[in-house]
Amino acid sequence: MDEAGIFLLLVKLGNFLWLSSIFSPLRKLFNRKFYNESTMKVTVVPFVFDALPLGSIKPHGWLLDQMHLMAAGLAGHEHDFYHYVANSSWLGGDQEYSDLNEGFPYWFNGLVPLAYGLADDRLKAQVQGAANYVLGAQAADGWLGPENGTARNFWARYPLCLGLVQLVEADPTYEEPVVSALWKFTDLMHSMLADDYTGYLYHDGDKVGQDDTQWGRVRAQDMIITLQWLYEKHPPKNASVLLDNMQYLIDGSLNWDEWYQEGVYITQDLNTVPVSETEPFFPYEHGVNVGQGLKALAVFRRFTHNDSLLETTRNAVNWTFTYHGAASGAILADERLAGLAPYYGSETCTLVETMYSLSYLYQALGDNEFADRCERTAFNALPVQLTPDWWARQYVSEPNQPYSKDLSDKPFWNVNNWGQTYGLETDYPCCTVNHPQGYPKFLSASYVKVGDNGLAHALLSPASVSTALSSGDVTVDCATNYPFTSSLSYTITSTGSFDFYVRIPQWANLTSSTITTGNTTASISPDLHTGLHKLPISPGTTSITVTLATSIAIEPRANDTIAIHHGALIFALSIPSTNTSTPPKAYNTNQEYPAAYAPPQSRDWQIANASAWNIAVDPSSLTLHTPDAGQAGAALPNPIWAPGAPSVSVSVRACEIAWGLYKGVPDVPPPRAERKCLGEVFEARLEPLGAAKLHMVDLPTIDLSGL
Ligand SMILES: *[C@@H]1O[C@H](CO)[C@@H](O)[C@H](O)[C@H]1NC(C)=O
Ligand SMILES: *[C@@H]1O[C@H](CO)[C@@H](O)[C@H](O)[C@H]1NC(C)=O
Ligand SMILES: *[C@@H]1O[C@H](CO)[C@@H](O)[C@H](O)[C@H]1NC(C)=O
Ligand SMILES: *[C@@H]1O[C@H](CO)[C@@H](O)[C@H](O)[C@H]1NC(C)=O
Ligand SMILES: *[C@@H]1O[C@H](CO)[C@@H](O)[C@H](O)[C@H]1NC(C)=O
Ligand SMILES: *[C@@H]1O[C@H](CO)[C@@H](O)[C@H](O)[C@H]1NC(C)=O
Ligand SMILES: *[C@@H]1O[C@H](CO)[C@@H](O)[C@H](O)[C@H]1NC(C)=O
Ligand SMILES: *[C@@H]1O[C@H](CO)[C@@H](O)[C@H](O)[C@H]1NC(C)=O
Ligand SMILES: *[C@@H]1O[C@H](CO)[C@@H](O)[C@H](O)[C@H]1NC(C)=O
Repeated sequence: MDEAGIFLLLVKLGNFLWLSSIFSPLRKLFNRKFYNESTMKVTVVPFVFDALPLGSIKPHGWLLDQMHLMAAGLAGHEHDFYHYVANSSWLGGDQEYSDLNEGFPYWFNGLVPLAYGLADDRLKAQVQGAANYVLGAQAADGWLGPENGTARNFWARYPLCLGLVQLVEADPTYEEPVVSALWKFTDLMHSMLADDYTGYLYHDGDKVGQDDTQWGRVRAQDMIITLQWLYEKHPPKNASVLLDNMQYLIDGSLNWDEWYQEGVYITQDLNTVPVSETEPFFPYEHGVNVGQGLKALAVFRRFTHNDSLLETTRNAVNWTFTYHGAASGAILADERLAGLAPYYGSETCTLVETMYSLSYLYQALGDNEFADRCERTAFNALPVQLTPDWWARQYVSEPNQPYSKDLSDKPFWNVNNWGQTYGLETDYPCCTVNHPQGYPKFLSASYVKVGDNGLAHALLSPASVSTALSSGDVTVDCATNYPFTSSLSYTITSTGSFDFYVRIPQWANLTSSTITTGNTTASISPDLHTGLHKLPISPGTTSITVTLATSIAIEPRANDTIAIHHGALIFALSIPSTNTSTPPKAYNTNQEYPAAYAPPQSRDWQIANASAWNIAVDPSSLTLHTPDAGQAGAALPNPIWAPGAPSVSVSVRACEIAWGLYKGVPDVPPPRAERKCLGEVFEARLEPLGAAKLHMVDLPTIDLSGL
């Protein structure tokens, strides 16, 4: 066990002592009912916008290319070779990377929307075969998944259930088998929870430890989403079982409401805060938990009807990104929340969970900001953590990361020296099995229903939707190179009249953005809360073009550094590279897998800088270059998230400065007063971050006027 492992063990021990001490009084406090048992008249709070069934939205353009790369890459081949999926204990094997048994469920939750989003028969056969096996192996008492000889622990069932719900929405032949399996499972869950929270809370003497049950308790919302879906769409005869389960799960949860409070929430760099203050809150500081938990209180509120949770949710998102966020839309947590320093890491699992939570929050609360943040993560933080061909992923990425290699030392809290390299399972396998949900769930949240007879383009990207509204069938096709260009061309066909809405991002300049319907160009007037601009549509075919105007925006970052935004894209200094690779290595032994283990495209990479990275920029000289601006519909290079592929760029006057290292990676830059050019001033090219695998995002500023 390395140093970090020992530290983690201490943290776990601390948690255990903390939880044991507060636990009994806490449980007595809960036990209030959120619903009236005598009337049983319970509605869950409706969404502001309803999700559409998986499969009704199809990707086009660069997003289709990306999902094809996923299908042809690691995501689409784990079922064939990756032992934590192919030989998972869920599918009759015995391979698990931890006794949480979460590997297969994470994979399933991402592959269902990939398979049905692409309508890919090979991947559909994989998920259907897996679903048939798991449903067929359901225990007589309703338990789903492996027993593994230890006590039952609910957690890994949450992503399984999220995958099953998507499968039913996409393929009605699964409705009967999935819904009846879930009824049995939720009945069992009820009897277990009623029996002193078995499967959820640690009890002295359980074979499952407190450290194992904390995951289920801090991620309760991911199960409650399925309970609410059943309650609204497929209620069992005795629906109070579902309501009881929601109440038990909330009562026994590690409740995010206690963390997102002034005076409790830690706003500082956690590495500067005494262990005695960070340790008690570890479950709330764990990066993946944070990504998943951003939606928790919005999910709880649908059941409790407690609107004070709305403000807490808004604070949760704001504080997370204000105090622990990268410009890219990533949460800096390696693997505990860090601060804002440009050498901290963001985990791939955390990114995809953050995107899913933000798209859920847009549907549940309707705040335009949540959709903007989701796009920012999707178009910047996510793609930079995958190789262009989607065969290798990082465990963590750093805002300033001019090389990706086996580090001699590391600035991370609990990520190893290989953590920022691209590979099959560098550092830990969770990001291998969980990364596939990113773009497929983004796609399936990209259009939403507005009431009975409205449809909105919520997350902008090239995609089309076909669905039935109260006035009849509707198809909307959006042709665009967004976010690389700023215009979106819609072709709409409908049998009746309906309202179409386009979400206008907060960064758009409303006075110069336009919307053209037929031959009429008008200005844009979005709803202030949701950002939706409404367009009444008549039956027949309608063409609409939306052109979003914006300019370069400078985000001040810590210590006189800046990040450069234009629209939904972040522009970074792209560092030229050379690379070497080996067959993939096992994360826990660092030994190469046997030659025939993985397809040849699966490699572990080390990427070195082929130039200097210690560069300061003069913000007064930022200039946008859009060589393809006039060709809104022209095909983009594929893969687009590769160095040099996007044609849009930003130039800036720059020079090298003296800038040291911290634990093997670039330190925070020297104070502004000490920044002096070491050589000539030159014009540096900044490119979209997703393409710039080696990059500097938080750029030190310098005044180069007169030079
Ligand atoms: C799965 O396990 C079987 C039996 O141990 C083995 O023959 C096979 O190679 C394994 N496959 C993978 C992908 O791990
Ligand atoms: C349960 O899973 C863990 C983690 O893979 C493994 O070490 C253990 O041997 C399994 N136990 C049984 C009884 O199968
Ligand atoms: C419904 O389930 C609840 C447990 O939530 C139980 O108390 C009640 O007796 C059940 N009602 C019927 C009619 O089975
Ligand atoms: C609503 O939640 C707040 C905490 O956010 C809590 O203080 C309050 O007691 C809750 N109200 C009810 C009725 O449960
Ligand atoms: C976000 O939180 C910060 C710090 O508490 C506060 O100053 C700011 O006004 C908040 N922003 C929003 C949009 O609520
Ligand atoms: C800012 O610079 C100071 C002094 O070098 C350093 O201690 C601190 O960590 C830096 N903060 C960030 C967020 O980079
Ligand atoms: C748009 O303009 C063209 C060319 O001027 C004209 O033929 C067409 O009828 C116009 N369409 C509408 C809907 O006004
Ligand atoms: C490694 O370099 C080759 C040649 O330049 C390039 O094609 C490939 O994409 C690089 N791989 C990675 C992971 O950067
Ligand atoms: C790459 O970065 C290292 C570490 O800062 C530096 O020493 C080296 O000169 C850089 N390589 C090139 C080719 O500039």
